[in-house]
Amino acid sequence: MSKTELPQIICHMMTTLDGKITSGTGENILDDYFSLYTKIEDKLNAKSWIIGRVTMQAFADNLTIELPKIRSRIDDKDYIVSIPNDYNVFTTDTKGVLRWKDNTIRFSNIKENLNLVVIVTINTPKEYLSYLQDKNISYIFGGEEDIDFRIVFKKIKSKFGIDRILLEGGGILNGSIMNENLIDQISLLLLPLVVNRTDAPSLFEGDIQKDLIIKKFTLTNIEKLENDVVWLKYLNKLNKI
Ligand SMILES: NC(=O)c1ccc[n+]([C@@H]2O[C@H](COP(=O)([O-])OP(=O)(O)OC[C@H]3O[C@@H](n4cnc5c(N)ncnc54)[C@H](OP(=O)(O)O)[C@@H]3O)[C@@H](O)[C@H]2O)c1
Repeated sequence: MSKTELPQIICHMMTTLDGKITSGTGENILDDYFSLYTKIEDKLNAKSWIIGRVTMQAFADNLTIELPKIRSRIDDKDYIVSIPNDYNVFTTDTKGVLRWKDNTIRFSNIKENLNLVVIVTINTPKEYLSYLQDKNISYIFGGEEDIDFRIVFKKIKSKFGIDRILLEGGGILNGSIMNENLIDQISLLLLPLVVNRTDAPSLFEGDIQKDLIIKKFTLTNIEKLENDVVWLKYLNKLNKI
């Protein structure tokens, strides 16, 4: 598959000096930097996001809502509702955990509502797919059991016409996409904090069963921001754009 069949993928995140994306204890350590994070995000000029299920829980409805019974046959075809604008947020949810109020999401720094698209697999419970259809929420299949992100991004480009997308974690999602060497750029806010706990997740939490393959990036921008934060931009050497 050639690179032109995929959108440009920019991983935009903030980490502590020890590369952690949260405290790992539940205590929020990023709040003070959130407005700076979104200010830089605005400069990246993206209209689409891909975000992991754990992170998207903050935008979801009550998780205990029970799924209704299936009313009609659910096949293995992508379900894409007509999309009112070109702002989208894709989230992975292979087990059908999240519940939604609506088929759009609001981000505090974006004027438009973002169309919600859930990435599922063939093994995702049919009750969940039926629930998404009832809510008029789009979903696309990303594989059988595990998600193949090449397939996902190819669909994101071909079915939604998206050329550029921000990947905003968490670490497990970032790690899976890094594993497939699909990240073109990293936009990193380096915060003047140290967590110093092994149980705090890192920027990339790849699978330890996979072979060690070091990815090399080129530094393209360095900028000192307010509150001792540094903005670093890196380009993937292999995915020249
Ligand atoms: N510092 C920052 O800039 C920043 C930004 C965003 C988030 N965060 C923090 O990150 C934390 C959450 O991170 P996290 O790493 O625990 O979770 P996450 O990345 O948000 O969620 C893990 C996701 O990875 C999916 N996944 C990854 N690879 C897969 C594959 N090959 N096949 C199937 N599914 C795959 C999982 O799917 P299933 O659910 O279907 O298993 C799940 O949706 C939160 O505390 C959040 O606040 C920090």
